[in-house]
Amino acid sequence: MKSADIGELADFVSGAARAVRVEDRELVVVRIDDDLYVLDDRCSHEAFWLSDGDVDVENREIECARHGAMFSLESGEPLCLPATSPVARYDVALRDGRVEVTW
Ligand code: FES
Repeated sequence: MKSADIGELADFVSGAARAVRVEDRELVVVRIDDDLYVLDDRCSHEAFWLSDGDVDVENREIECARHGAMFSLESGEPLCLPATSPVARYDVALRDGRVEVTW
């Protein structure tokens, strides 16, 4: 198991998605208040960047900007077509105000 520090909590704006590169991984990080979610930054439909999509804060979902598939931030599961496969999600923890991702 590996982990990486991806910055301070304050670096992430609540309600927004941000692309983060960790080693060879491209991740999308979403902060909603003090909760953090990390998924692969690739839609499972046609590999578009999820970090370009809008975040549904109330339902904790992210929308692919290309064709509108929605994914659960909590599980990575697709919630509507055209995506039918999940995207990988990563464990994330806060340590002394810093954000740590594990894979
Ligand atoms: S590439 Fe994401 S819905 Fe098509």
